[in-house]
Amino acid sequence: MNAVSLGDTRPTIEDPMAFRNVLGHFPTGIVLITGIAADGEPVGMIVGSFTSVSLAPPLVGFLPTVNSQTFKRLRTAKSFCVNVLAGDQEDICRRFSGRAENKFDSVTWTPSPSGAPVLEGVVAFIDCTFESISDAGDHHIVVGAVRELQVCRPVAPLLFFQGGYGQFAPMSLHAPFETDLIAGVRLAEQGRVEMDWLAKSLDAECTAMAVVNDQMAVMVAGTGSSWDAEARLGERIPLMPPMGELCLAWEDQAAIQKWLDRALPNDECSPHEYRERLRAVRKRGWSVTMKSDYQDEEVFAALREYSSGHYTPAQERHIREVISRTSSSYAPITLLDGELYEVDSLLAPVWDSVGQVRLVLRITHLPSSVTAQQITAWADQLMLTATAISVAPAARG
Ligand SMILES: Cc1cc2nc3c(=O)[nH]c(=O)nc-3n(C[C@H](O)[C@H](O)[C@H](O)COP(=O)(O)O)c2cc1C
Repeated sequence: MNAVSLGDTRPTIEDPMAFRNVLGHFPTGIVLITGIAADGEPVGMIVGSFTSVSLAPPLVGFLPTVNSQTFKRLRTAKSFCVNVLAGDQEDICRRFSGRAENKFDSVTWTPSPSGAPVLEGVVAFIDCTFESISDAGDHHIVVGAVRELQVCRPVAPLLFFQGGYGQFAPMSLHAPFETDLIAGVRLAEQGRVEMDWLAKSLDAECTAMAVVNDQMAVMVAGTGSSWDAEARLGERIPLMPPMGELCLAWEDQAAIQKWLDRALPNDECSPHEYRERLRAVRKRGWSVTMKSDYQDEEVFAALREYSSGHYTPAQERHIREVISRTSSSYAPITLLDGELYEVDSLLAPVWDSVGQVRLVLRITHLPSSVTAQQITAWADQLMLTATAISVAPAARG
């Protein structure tokens, strides 16, 4: 690895602004430390310096400034309770870090096991007794012994960074959306008439999904007479095995490996089998998924959660597990004459001017129990539509 250049003009540590500026580049979570002061009134202090300290024994800590009037009252309490603020609780943070009188008016709270306020809507609370208070420069170091704790609402927490508030966003949704997405939308719009026609002629649902970084997003939905495809607009699907075969089939080895690396270790399909599937898709030019006994509603719910973007890393792991379990629904490598198939969907690639799969056309809600010939006939129609929308010759690999 190359040595990092440290630069010539380094700020001096005597400069308090420089200290604040550099440390402002480090994000923190935000908690409200509450307690019932000796006078019987609730007290609450917003703190970004909260941290876990020890597991055995369970200790946590935070650093109030020695000048804090709020902490002077808080330390008269018998106990304190750490309220982990949620991403939608910026108003609570502003209220409690401001100068308002009676900060607990108009907030709803219930007593923690030790009696300290637990505010409605917080992610979690950690109820503590004071273990020690020591000094470090112009701050105290308060260590609390954890007595009780609970996750109340497992949502993304509120974060503080460079003087502003924000929320945690999983990397997978942090796609460089604009350019790729707009290119996909343009292409999808050009195909709207063809897609509507295809959907109506097959009485199926036809959607176009833009390929953006490591996910697909439904851009245009054409619909037959009986399906409300509009509801699918904006739906996102992560490119992780088994999903996204069609986007990967013509990609280079590095991209395929990246996709395979996203498979879960307990996926019932091996990397070798996935490579075989990609080869089959490349040969056919399109792909097909079958209905299977995996729980559809669970998969839909997982995809809805993924599409909302509002999920924590723990929830993302669950979404990926649910998706991973669908690997058995993908088509066998060869479709056999004389067999009947329950098709879930057929997919075809739409190419952009630089020869990349920019859109995936998908038809679903097709009749059940069909032969390989019927599937091929549908696929031919889908491919005609995809080719009509493609801006580059479809012939590849
Ligand atoms: C995001 C954020 C993080 C903060 N973190 C701390 C902290 O770690 N320690 C602290 O003493 N004050 C912190 N404060 C300031 C206090 O919340 C509060 O504004 C300050 O204690 C008010 O002074 P007072 O206690 O004298 O009324 C933070 C404020 C904000 C907005």
